[in-house]
Amino acid sequence: MKTQVGIVGAGPSGLLLAQMLHLAGIDSVILESRPRSYIENRQRAGVLEHGVVRTLADCGVGARLAREGMVHEGIDIRFGETRHRLDVKALSGGQCVTVYPQHEIVKDLVAARLQTDRPLWFEARVTSLLDLETSRPRIRFEQDGETRELACDFVAGCDGFHGISRPAIPGGRIDSYGRDYPFAWLGILAEAAPASHEVIYAHHKRGFALQSMRSPTVSRLYLQCPVDDDVEQWSDDRIWSELHARFATHDGFRLNEGRIVQKSLTPMRSFVAAPMRHGRLMLAGDAAHIVPPTGAKGLNSAVGDVRVMAAALEAYYRHGDGDLLERYSEIALRRVWKTQRFAASLCTLLHRFHDEPRFHMRMQLAELEQIVEDPRAAELFARNYTGLPFDV
Ligand code: FAD
Ligand code: DHB
Repeated sequence: MKTQVGIVGAGPSGLLLAQMLHLAGIDSVILESRPRSYIENRQRAGVLEHGVVRTLADCGVGARLAREGMVHEGIDIRFGETRHRLDVKALSGGQCVTVYPQHEIVKDLVAARLQTDRPLWFEARVTSLLDLETSRPRIRFEQDGETRELACDFVAGCDGFHGISRPAIPGGRIDSYGRDYPFAWLGILAEAAPASHEVIYAHHKRGFALQSMRSPTVSRLYLQCPVDDDVEQWSDDRIWSELHARFATHDGFRLNEGRIVQKSLTPMRSFVAAPMRHGRLMLAGDAAHIVPPTGAKGLNSAVGDVRVMAAALEAYYRHGDGDLLERYSEIALRRVWKTQRFAASLCTLLHRFHDEPRFHMRMQLAELEQIVEDPRAAELFARNYTGLPFDV
């Protein structure tokens, strides 16, 4: 079996890359370890940057997103039990964000892929990457109890943080940078109409909380909690009482309650691996970097990488020009680092740090006041939140 680009992983990175390559007339095979139903129902990101929405539309997978996505022109930042609205559209020169769940994007991309008749294999677990430093790398994988191999020109490592692509790069040829935060997010999905039609970021002395949504009748809510907490310790009553406390404002705001249909715990981490290319292997998305989710940047950052990788492969196959491929890591990392900075600073700005509560909290409140009072601080925030320009 052989192809031009072997893609490991059918998350947003791998599926979008495959779609972009298809549109450029480049062949690929996607290998995904999980079943289709699993990846199409995995609850994850929700907020799409302005340029990501355009990218999906340009790739022919924006029709349902345009119909069902919820366009947001502003966000609600609350601290000191007071609400402040940031008009991110006006502040960023016209850019909005759209709430549309990641698993819906995955469904749209899987459907588009299946229409192309190019291969997307589920329950095909990649076990090793071979000959990456040659012009004929190979992907070894297990499917239906058999070990198989795919020969390709390039390997795209789109297999997330726990995948096998990044560890396939020999030690000493890749550096990693990052930090783990001493807290996690408890995320819930509730059958309750969102009480605010915009996303709410709440700074509170009990810890951070976030209200987002999945539809006009389903809320997505997150609570900062200790990193070693267990979802079992969070009864529905405890969750609602903590949420009410953290979202309370002096003007009497109240969340809507509803049946909790899902609970999960996500640890917070900042991580970057560099370079993002080794020989004929290129990494994209969570395989190369992780952000704490506070700024909703994980999926958006993955799309930035994929745009560069697809353009580099197109230049190579169409014009025989390998310059962008050589510079893939350098170009992708320029945006990755800016996004990392924004996500890490928002994480530090909004969460409670138990080891330095009093001084740190004063610094947080001073910075939050500056964001809502000083238009230049607000503009910088809004440009980052709605999405920095893509380099390619
Ligand atoms: P993934 O989505 O992780 O996809 C990788 C794929 O590779 C998976 O389907 C996996 O099954 C497959 N795979 C792994 N190993 C192998 C193998 N050996 N062989 C074959 N296939 C393999 N981001 C936001 O912007 N906002 C959020 O609110 C947000 N919430 C999140 C909540 C959670 C619980 C998590 C885990 C992430 C969240 N993120 C969020 C981050 C965002 O979901 C990721 O940045 C995004 O999924 C990255 O896409 P990806 O395609 O690079 O990786
Ligand atoms: C969502 C997640 C985020 O991390 C965020 O900052 C905003 C919204 C969400 O899941 O909808």
